[in-house]
Amino acid sequence: MIVGVPKEVKDHESRVGVTPAGVKALVETGHKVLVEHNAGALSSFPDDDYQAVGAEIVGEAYNVWRNADMVVKVKEPTKQEYYHFREGLLLFTYLHLAPLRELTDALLEKKVTGIAYETVRDRAGSLPLLTPMSEVAGRLSVQVGAAYLQKEHGGRGVLLGGVPGTLPGNVFIIGGGIVGTNAAKMALGLGAKVTLVDLNLNRLREIDDIFGGRVFTLASNSYNIERAASEADLLIGGVLIPGAAAPKIVTRAMVSKMKKGAVIVDVAIDQGGCIETARPTTHSDPSYEVDGVVHYCVTNMPAAVPNTSTLALTNATFPYVLKLARDGAELAIKADPGIAEGVNTFNGHLTYKAVAEAQARDYRAVANVL
Ligand SMILES: NC(=O)c1ccc[n+]([C@@H]2O[C@H](COP(=O)([O-])OP(=O)(O)OC[C@H]3O[C@@H](n4cnc5c(N)ncnc54)[C@H](O)[C@@H]3O)[C@@H](O)[C@H]2O)c1
Repeated sequence: MIVGVPKEVKDHESRVGVTPAGVKALVETGHKVLVEHNAGALSSFPDDDYQAVGAEIVGEAYNVWRNADMVVKVKEPTKQEYYHFREGLLLFTYLHLAPLRELTDALLEKKVTGIAYETVRDRAGSLPLLTPMSEVAGRLSVQVGAAYLQKEHGGRGVLLGGVPGTLPGNVFIIGGGIVGTNAAKMALGLGAKVTLVDLNLNRLREIDDIFGGRVFTLASNSYNIERAASEADLLIGGVLIPGAAAPKIVTRAMVSKMKKGAVIVDVAIDQGGCIETARPTTHSDPSYEVDGVVHYCVTNMPAAVPNTSTLALTNATFPYVLKLARDGAELAIKADPGIAEGVNTFNGHLTYKAVAEAQARDYRAVANVL
């Protein structure tokens, strides 16, 4: 199979769909890989690294898309990329189709097989291609929060670990899933005092076990949240209700009672945010202040660390890339129910129910249209 790796064109997107390690494995198993010039440059993978393991570097995106049987990307295609769609193309990337009617139309019209990272499932039924980005964002939230706590960034000048003779900083984490657990790990590592709330008591039991009681757990209710928020130096929002907008767990009134110079990192901002005063920000203008509290609400945090994020993402996606290259789309979809769950468009049919519902369109199960 010919596998194509175009350079991402979405604003501020610096990850790449396949690393040189991935190219090496594909080439060793008999595939040809076309990599667009500078596709990996922002993730610190120069063209030379790809060439050294057998990739062909191609000058124009058009030539990657036109010649590849399968295109592997990171972000959903932008309008300038729709033009490359053609019948029989296999596209493996994040698609996030529910709100993107035009992209859905383009994929259906050109009969592209669109397999979305975000809906591929593993044997346990979880979403293995979403997890790595939550791990990155969770860990990064503490690193970013610690920097904003510094005086020159508007913070209250607290060192999270403190020093002997001073108290450590208080980190308050809302949600004990992937983001929350990774944030807790980093905050503990820095020596902070960590408090975490979740609605799910079984998850709190697991957190208590994982961290040997060093993370203070609380049930999620407004009384506990108001108290913990008022004591926090750094508050991290990491809740998720799958398929729904994040609930506003920290109200504006709670924010107004927080310490001046405290920092909020609302990681859940990509789902609307769980802090009432949070609004989406970008890497070019990441923070703002409300009632003396610094807010950092970047919707694509992993793009700040593209080298790690690309490696983490491709570690998870690559086994699927290899399987799709080896078997071709139809056989891989038939053989692996997890890949079948990832199929959002196939031969002109919309094959993912939640997307069809969100766009009020017809849906066909992929098994019925193969
Ligand atoms: N900003 C970014 O760049 C970025 C990157 C990755 C993930 N995210 C977002 O981070 C959020 C968390 O992702 P995740 O992978 O950790 O999800 P997850 O499903 O692993 O964890 C979510 C946790 O929130 C808990 N929760 C739900 N409602 C709650 C409530 N009312 N109070 C307390 N806890 C509650 C759940 O019980 C669960 O443990 C998601 O919105 C995800 O989209 C953002």
